Amino acid sequence: MKQTFHITTFGCQMNEHDSETIAGMLSGLDYTPSASRNDADVIIINTCSVRENADHRFFGTLGQLKRIRKERPDLIVAVCGCMMQQQHVIDKLKSQYPWVDLIFGTHTIHRFPELLQNVRQERVKLVDVMEDSEEIVEGLPVRRNHPNKAYVNIMYGCNNFCTYCIVPYTRGRERSRDTEEILREVKELVKDGVKEITLLGQNVNSYRGTGRQGQRIEFADLITELDRIHGLSRIRFMTSHPKDLSDALILAYRNCPSLCPHIHLPVQSGSTSVLERMNRKYNREDYIALVERLRSVCPDIAITTDIIVGFPGETEEEFQDTLRLVEEIEFDSAFTFLYSIRKGTPAETFEDQVPEEIKHERFNRLVETVNRISAKKNATKVGCVEDVLVEGASKSNDRVYTGRTGGFKLVNFKGPEGSKGTVVSVRITDSNTFSLTGVVECDE
Ligand code: 5AD
Ligand code: SF4
Repeated sequence: MKQTFHITTFGCQMNEHDSETIAGMLSGLDYTPSASRNDADVIIINTCSVRENADHRFFGTLGQLKRIRKERPDLIVAVCGCMMQQQHVIDKLKSQYPWVDLIFGTHTIHRFPELLQNVRQERVKLVDVMEDSEEIVEGLPVRRNHPNKAYVNIMYGCNNFCTYCIVPYTRGRERSRDTEEILREVKELVKDGVKEITLLGQNVNSYRGTGRQGQRIEFADLITELDRIHGLSRIRFMTSHPKDLSDALILAYRNCPSLCPHIHLPVQSGSTSVLERMNRKYNREDYIALVERLRSVCPDIAITTDIIVGFPGETEEEFQDTLRLVEEIEFDSAFTFLYSIRKGTPAETFEDQVPEEIKHERFNRLVETVNRISAKKNATKVGCVEDVLVEGASKSNDRVYTGRTGGFKLVNFKGPEGSKGTVVSVRITDSNTFSLTGVVECDE
């Protein structure tokens, strides 16, 4: 009987995509996915270290596995991802979870098949973590979670060292993938039926590639090249740092029809003094000016963001600057986070950590403001016709679909059978805070 695997993924799209690669490598070894951990032969947990609650969830999940691992000595438990790049985590695993079979880091994913075979054959415990790496391994197999949408890595790592963030320590220095490799991969994906790609990187705006004639390829040039690929309907990207958003990229929203009218542009705080302590290298006015430029080129652009509440030293006035910025910009939506102390980051040692109850109270006020504005923005779409990439059918009724607009808004709608994987025009009939409702316009 074929061996089976189960992967649990915490964290961002980069991690999701790494898990797709791990699944691709396992499929290459003739493993098949299992819907439940209980009957999998290999269990993999891909971890995130960005906030403390992801740490808790990881150790919680691991705790549940102890019993299963004891009952089934043949089971292999592997853990990987950002948390494995932290020595204190490896030390804790070795001392408190000695039954974990395999630990590998973000720079050694490509060695996973070999490591797994070693663990299986020799029943040894293995740890394979590299601190940083210049190397980009190409051509790893990927088992995609979606037939018509795909993630494409264009760069790895981050050089920005925002003072709260662990990523530069876990994902290493910035390195860009070769432009030709990216174009080749996307062309293959399109041949395979992919309509939408999301370019991934911690800071895609600092992408630096080289063209066929040896010329420098900036992020906007890459978008322009990708836009020329016949059959590719939609290009998205994640994530952008405001300090590196170029005018060329802003113009791409006008010149590249397949670039979706959406940008995720994390602001983190609306207060210039907090932004300075965060080492973000832009101020409140710079951010507002950027949004104005984006809207002058693409008036309908959806703008989403990340905001951290309760950064060390954040005063009520500074927090109010964030609330005012949210009102002023009118974000389509925002991910809101409670500041979480990360070991080894500069902000860990900052004085004036904000008390938990104040953080929570501010967080609730922020969420109320963000949601009120999301609902208002969504309501403006009622009566409009939107292009929607059809992603799935509802379980109860196969003519009720879900999909996303170019502006990344979730739509539930009625449409003809067999619409999945196509881009259809949907008339929006209703809206709420988190989604839109509609009907397909043209039934051909
Ligand atoms: N605490 C809270 N939120 C954080 N983020 C990154 N580090 C932290 C932290 N220490 C948030 C930022 C980033 C998003 C991916 O996670 O908003 O944009
Ligand atoms: Fe972290 Fe800042 Fe880099 Fe984003 S840009 S990954 S927040 S250090």
